[in-house]
Amino acid sequence: MPSKLLEDLPGVGPATAEKLKAAGFNSIEAIAVASPGELVAAAEVGEATAAKIIAGAREAADIGGFETGDQILERRKLVGKLTTGSKGFNELMGGGLETQSIVELYGEFGSGKTQVAHQLAINVQLPREMGGLDGSAIIIDTENTFRPERIAQMIKGLPLAPEGRTWDPDEFLKNISVARAYNSNHQILLAESAIDLAEKARGSERPVKLLIVDSVTAHFRAEYVGRGTLADRQQKLNKHLHDLMRFADINNALILVTNQVMAKPDTFFGDPTKPVGGHVLGHTATFRLYLRKSKGEKRIARLVDSPNLPDGETVFSVTTEGLKD
Ligand code: GTP
Ligand code: MG
Repeated sequence: MPSKLLEDLPGVGPATAEKLKAAGFNSIEAIAVASPGELVAAAEVGEATAAKIIAGAREAADIGGFETGDQILERRKLVGKLTTGSKGFNELMGGGLETQSIVELYGEFGSGKTQVAHQLAINVQLPREMGGLDGSAIIIDTENTFRPERIAQMIKGLPLAPEGRTWDPDEFLKNISVARAYNSNHQILLAESAIDLAEKARGSERPVKLLIVDSVTAHFRAEYVGRGTLADRQQKLNKHLHDLMRFADINNALILVTNQVMAKPDTFFGDPTKPVGGHVLGHTATFRLYLRKSKGEKRIARLVDSPNLPDGETVFSVTTEGLKD
């Protein structure tokens, strides 16, 4: 679908279009779901102009305004479900991880967050009849823990390829774009360029259906130390998460973010940990999953927050050949 150019929008001249693009607003869709404040900052235009641009983009992109319940149901029908490789895990998530959502995985070091991320970057490429999304993946790697060798190992654990196909590790690796983020500002910029990258792939046979940020909070946590900087941190994190949500909406994609836990000193009973990121992350993530280590390869995933699924737990395994029951 050849979309209109930014320059075609009311209030957008060539200079404004350039500024918008430079700030990551590369498509009509991206602008349609932006807030006036974001455009004011990105394009140095006034509030009124920003509102006009957004209204124009909404009209052109057919996004926005109220939707009736049946229209929402129609859009929900496009929601894809991505297999984790574990039946129990899929069932916990209502059949798989949903597109148009942000899934947050939080847990201690070694709980398996990065392992799940690797597995999903593979599974998203599988055909739909195998629980995949015929898509490709983008990974924003903030901790330098992406390992192509691990992808190759996990591919050995995939179910048999459909007739006439074989699983080629090189093919899988070609469909995973990885960028290292060196600090939180860089991470924010990478999320913006991910929108670009996905835009280019949208009409292709391998649209981007998965965006991983592993870890979404580590840089923020390391850089903003002390109470005085908390508001600033939360504001930046909030912007970042909204970019991610926008990515999910525009591309009908799944966003997977990982998060650490911190000790909660005021807990004497139960589990003395809680996720980093505070309310900002808690409110933006669509699904929150808490991962815990169990015996050996076993891991426990607990669904703690979901708009439409009951809370619950499941046990799965992280094996050399990937995620299993
Ligand atoms: P942090 O990023 O440090 O917070 O941890 P994480 O939650 O991302 O942990 P990660 O996903 O990296 O899990 C590491 C664990 O996965 C290891 O301790 C192993 O238990 C398991 N693991 C990693 N590679 C393999 C493998 O090749 N075979 C098996 N059986 N287990 C593996
Ligand atoms: Mg990790």
